[in-house]
Amino acid sequence: MSVTLSQTSASRAATKAVNWSPESWRSFPIRQVPAYPDEDALTAVEARLHRYPPLVFAGEARRLRQHLAQAATGRAFVLQGGACAESFSEFSADFVRDTFRVLLQMAVVLTFGAKVPVVKIGRMAGQFAKPRSSDNETKDGVTLPSYRGDIINGPDFTAADRVPDPVRMETGYFQSAGILNLLRAFSRGGYANLHQVHRWNLGFVERSPLAERYRVLAGKIDETLSFMGACGLGAECTPQIDETEFYTSHEALLLPYEQAMTRIDSTSGEWYDCSAHFLWIGDRTRQPDGAHVEFLRGVRNPIGIKVGPTTQIEDLERLLEILNPGDEAGRITLISRMGAAKIRDHLPPLVRAVKGTGRTVTWVSDPMHGNTIPTSHNVKTRNFDAILSETQAFFDVLTSEGVPPGGVHIEMTGQNVTECVGGAHALTEDDLGARYQTFCDPRLNAEQSLELAFRMAEELSTRVRATPSATTVL
Ligand code: PEP
Ligand code: CO
Repeated sequence: MSVTLSQTSASRAATKAVNWSPESWRSFPIRQVPAYPDEDALTAVEARLHRYPPLVFAGEARRLRQHLAQAATGRAFVLQGGACAESFSEFSADFVRDTFRVLLQMAVVLTFGAKVPVVKIGRMAGQFAKPRSSDNETKDGVTLPSYRGDIINGPDFTAADRVPDPVRMETGYFQSAGILNLLRAFSRGGYANLHQVHRWNLGFVERSPLAERYRVLAGKIDETLSFMGACGLGAECTPQIDETEFYTSHEALLLPYEQAMTRIDSTSGEWYDCSAHFLWIGDRTRQPDGAHVEFLRGVRNPIGIKVGPTTQIEDLERLLEILNPGDEAGRITLISRMGAAKIRDHLPPLVRAVKGTGRTVTWVSDPMHGNTIPTSHNVKTRNFDAILSETQAFFDVLTSEGVPPGGVHIEMTGQNVTECVGGAHALTEDDLGARYQTFCDPRLNAEQSLELAFRMAEELSTRVRATPSATTVL
């Protein structure tokens, strides 16, 4: 892969990737690729998807890039959350609304703590493809291909369901379109109106100890809005009061789908992957010479890179050079997913190295993926305390390196699931069977998500108080 562009100038020329085309990834080594049995069927679906309308627009992705640039310098805080794997069987307005409103609640709590705007990004409307640590799965002596997410094959443990079917890409596209439509309506059509903060309290959260804390905060928002209204500062001049900006994201794993969704933006002449606003490269597919990096280097969306305990400094430096040669702020978000036990050792050298390159990145914490543990009940879980401990360590490490903590990336749902142990209701391994519904990794339920938001808000508000200017350092 040749990268010959200027590293200092963010000029138009520097934003065009050299020797790149939407299909150039096809000649690079690739991991996590499904074995489609029928090549012709795959090509036919790709051709159809290519003709369909874009799901998101280049201007929206550019705007998100600007918000992420603000988060890089502590002037905004990113909240990215949603399912580990969305599912075709959970395609209903209630699912979308419940996740959306927990994210809104978390955002309100965080805004109060951080005193900066919260950039809201859902792992929604396209988070269907999953990387797997093993190609096969064995149960009771039977071995079948692993489930790779609904956009590739089916979750049932049957030979028929596990065959990769390209038509699933089309189903994924239409489901994403339906969910996006709803998200756009919820964010712009009155649901996200700050006057509704009380109504975002979900029924089952209402009975929890956190509900009271949330009600107190919602009361303060009411007071503030009344005061602003009395001063003549209503929604007419402050549109943020009755609508919000909400962005979508997913792992750019299934490259035939991502390629088919890639279009030239007519205003800038640049390539955008129009399947989501923000795309990230997972921990298993971030090889600097690999196909996933090659694909993402040419699209102009803001992109994330998962950074784990096996990330080498030289690889990270190369990735930044390949993916952001013009060093444009907001282009790269580094998503740290070390695990509570490793983060304090593994993260500081990487943060220091990136700082040493003089490049601008937005550092975000994923306190979920390094903390997945097996249980005696044959399912995976995560301990809420480990999640809190990794989040705390992330804030500590970044602050001591003099870099603003830019946000958080979590797997959560608005449903009252029992997938992660701990939290206000002190769920134990024995409780997991009650409502263990995830199609992949264990998610925080609504109450645990809100609790995490309150903990982060406390942490952020201490940092704001301790800092002379809250807008320069978080
Ligand atoms: C994920 O975000 O669902 C995921 C698989 O993460 P990672 O690539 O960090 O393991
Ligand atoms: Co996951």
